[in-house]
Amino acid sequence: MAEQASLEERRAALDAIAEKIKACTRCPLHSSRTHAVPGAGRVDADIMFIGEAPGYHEDQQGLPFVGASGKYLDQLLAMIGLSRNDVFITNVIKCRPPGNRDPLPQEIDACMPAYLTQQATIIKPKLVATLGRFSMALFFPKTAQISRIHGQPKYANERIYYPLYHPAAVLRNPNLRPVMEEDFKRIQTLINEFEQHGTIEDEPPPPQQLSLF
Ligand code: URA
Repeated sequence: MAEQASLEERRAALDAIAEKIKACTRCPLHSSRTHAVPGAGRVDADIMFIGEAPGYHEDQQGLPFVGASGKYLDQLLAMIGLSRNDVFITNVIKCRPPGNRDPLPQEIDACMPAYLTQQATIIKPKLVATLGRFSMALFFPKTAQISRIHGQPKYANERIYYPLYHPAAVLRNPNLRPVMEEDFKRIQTLINEFEQHGTIEDEPPPPQQLSLF
């Protein structure tokens, strides 16, 4: 994809990736899926949300975050004046693991470089918000605890990485609601800072190297 690709070219490239995902047989999850779930939203979104993997409802509908945690994500977005049409929402892997088990390393290896990394290259988000421990662990040190580093942005690879709790975890533990909402409310401030200065002020760096797309 050329550096100066038009919006139409970027949309076509994103659609082409979605078509590849829908036909994908790179890992065994293809045989148990109802629908692959490429992701949805703006091709030029400033914010990209990355969850773990499609669950039951997402697998049924072929769309990300359409179950209970998706409804809560919609509420959080509305709270900061956005809707899902303003952002891009996707997952680390694009097919539902049986019984919603954690994705396996070989499934991530088959999926992420081919799809998630390519999607991010086209969308060029200013802020990548990881939703939950699983997605966080791919971009932050494996030993980092979400209870310690949620809401602590990290600037790397010309974008902000911002670890957030998974909406499902907040639904399970309502004590996390105020924390999640505070973290969400900071998103626009971080983007404004990034737009003004081309970076953000560093917060205490995690102990190990951030793994990048
Ligand atoms: N949980 C996720 O991590 N992703 C979805 O798309 C739905 C629920």
